[in-house]
Amino acid sequence: MTDLKSKFLHVYSLLKSELLNDPDFEFTDDSRQWIDRMMDYNVPGGKLNRGISVVDSYKLLKLGKELADDEVFLACSLGWCIEWLQAYFLVLDDIMDGSHTRRGQPCWFRLPKVGMIAVNDGIILRNHISRILKKHFKGKPYYVDLVDLFNEVEFQTAHGQMVDLITTLVGEKDLSKYSMPLHHRIVKYKTGYYSFYLPVACALLMFGENLDQHVNVKDILVDMGTYFQVQDDYLDCFGDPDVIGKIGTDIEDFKCSWLVVKALELCNEDQKKSLYENYGKDDPVCVAKVKDIYKALKLQDVYLEYESKIYEKIINSIEDVPRKEVQAVLKSFLAKIYKRQK
Ligand code: IPE
Ligand code: MN
Ligand code: MN
Repeated sequence: MTDLKSKFLHVYSLLKSELLNDPDFEFTDDSRQWIDRMMDYNVPGGKLNRGISVVDSYKLLKLGKELADDEVFLACSLGWCIEWLQAYFLVLDDIMDGSHTRRGQPCWFRLPKVGMIAVNDGIILRNHISRILKKHFKGKPYYVDLVDLFNEVEFQTAHGQMVDLITTLVGEKDLSKYSMPLHHRIVKYKTGYYSFYLPVACALLMFGENLDQHVNVKDILVDMGTYFQVQDDYLDCFGDPDVIGKIGTDIEDFKCSWLVVKALELCNEDQKKSLYENYGKDDPVCVAKVKDIYKALKLQDVYLEYESKIYEKIINSIEDVPRKEVQAVLKSFLAKIYKRQK
């Protein structure tokens, strides 16, 4: 494990023990133990890319100058706020998507003792972010902007989730409404803002920047987020569940995935008929038929081509960003996801 990662995990245990001893709630042993377990199960088990990116980005903005201990702590705390936000969204997303596994273990709500208590746990995870921000950032000049940023990004993500979900409404299953513009709209909001813009925006605020002056940076990061979600859609079908830690449900769930939109663009009449008949059914035979069409259309190759094209496009737009240190932040982020397998 890298130094930074172990430092980052150390900050998790500090934040966790503060939350478990929050004076605004009268904890009992039972309630403390529940939250303790719930946090450990849902918050730290991912790739931690988003969280650690706050620290990486902040370092790049400081042009590699050694960070003071309190700066490292604050940057890590903001990184953890993003991991908390992600945990909150995922706990609820897995319920809504009817998923079974996440990060190589059963989804939290699948645990017999948890069930729909997971809904409230999600809300508590969201509240933890406000508690962390209040405790560690309240006196900072950028506190209000930080709170605003988290609110805004949550607003965008929740609306992306809404569009993702209402497009799949049972009884209205109609593939003809699925298109690249609709797919783009969903993934921009459900993934782009919180996964890519948020970590860099946190680092910029801590560095004393005004976010209104970084609109181009925001656009590039949201593009990267879109690319990231196309990868997620691809891996949902073609990824190795042992590597990605989850079993895909997009075909069963009638999701407006990049793969189905591409398939609709490329298919012939017979394949189209079969897609209409088999997409969105919770039946392994139907799922296999959809996957066969994806393979016949060589969507794996189409995806590889998309990946190199979008990579080049993003790299080019990064070259247009005026400041070299901001360019470095964007490039390091892109390098983390290019050709990812998980
Ligand atoms: C999840 O989107 C987006 C958020 C958690 C906001 P997906 O539903 O496509 O993600 P996975 O595949 O379950 O991780
Ligand atoms: Mn999901
Ligand atoms: Mn989802």
